Amino acid sequence: MVAVDTNRTLPWSWYTDPAVLELERDRIFRRSWQYVGRADEVAEPGSYATTRAGHIPVVLIRDEEGTLRAFLNVCRHRGSLVCEGSGRRATLQCPYHAWTYGLDGRLLVAPRGGREGLVTDDLGLVPLAVDTWGPFVFVNPDPDGDPLSDFLEDVPEQVAAAGVDVAELRFLQRPESELAANWKLCAENFLECYHCAVAHPGFSAVVDVSPGSYLLDTGRARMSQYGPPRPEPRGSFDPAGEVERGQFHLLFPNTVINVMPGRPNLSIGPIVPVAPDRTYRFLDYLVTPEADDAWVEEMLLFDAQVGDEDTRLVERVQQGVSAGLLDEGRLLPESERHVAHFQALVVEALA
Ligand code: FES
Ligand SMILES: [Fe+2]
Repeated sequence: MVAVDTNRTLPWSWYTDPAVLELERDRIFRRSWQYVGRADEVAEPGSYATTRAGHIPVVLIRDEEGTLRAFLNVCRHRGSLVCEGSGRRATLQCPYHAWTYGLDGRLLVAPRGGREGLVTDDLGLVPLAVDTWGPFVFVNPDPDGDPLSDFLEDVPEQVAAAGVDVAELRFLQRPESELAANWKLCAENFLECYHCAVAHPGFSAVVDVSPGSYLLDTGRARMSQYGPPRPEPRGSFDPAGEVERGQFHLLFPNTVINVMPGRPNLSIGPIVPVAPDRTYRFLDYLVTPEADDAWVEEMLLFDAQVGDEDTRLVERVQQGVSAGLLDEGRLLPESERHVAHFQALVVEALA
């Protein structure tokens, strides 16, 4: 690993420079596992759903045999997106000139292609690596990457040990958002709770965010935080239940997995760079079928409050680091050690 000064942030120019984002897309997002959606979105044979892995457009397909496939959603003719939204089809037809692909990605028809001598071998949709953990679908644009289990490290075991059976969860909702901040600022903000007592009064009234109770644990590219409820939590959200403490994981580069204390639940989603100063996010919320509606409502409101507060925080940081004059900031060696680890992984990937 590249030596990194763990007391200093990345150069602040890395949060605004289009050339850095270009490099990140090539060195990180083109070759990493990323959460793209749920298997139930393509449950039926012949169904497809469009999504993205970073900047890379992806179409998920359930073929007639029931196999889940992922392809680059780009037509081999002149590069149009082939599919939009989701649906169910026997073939996938590009809307531009009607090149038509099978659910196995093979190019079946290129109108006038035969007459004009077009060689259509090897012009199928480009397959991407795809795999699942329970209901969760991950794509790696690099077909020669490590298996998904390496990427997940021990998160599935940790989630199961908390009393969450991911196969039993029911999907609740997918809030989407776009933030005026670099994707790394969103990740770094997620990776420390140094700001919680100051900036998340509601969260901190329920979860014990003091350094002695709120624990950080670092895997290879897994950065995890564990927050137990306060002995006497205050506020509208009741954290009592089978899940005794919150778990908040970030799997490098951009997959976030949260388990709130209380009823078995999980939320999962990507942090997607759109531009140096813009980030797209969605979060799939799932909960045990036994959870009552009132608890679910409270949990969603509780988490949305934290999300809104975080949005304002990272957008303020984006404005600050964009100012010039200053080149970098400082990190606390313990409370912000996940931030340092994340930044070291970025440096290593870009080196
Ligand atoms: S770009 Fe798809 S058929 Fe022409
Ligand atoms: Fe936060």
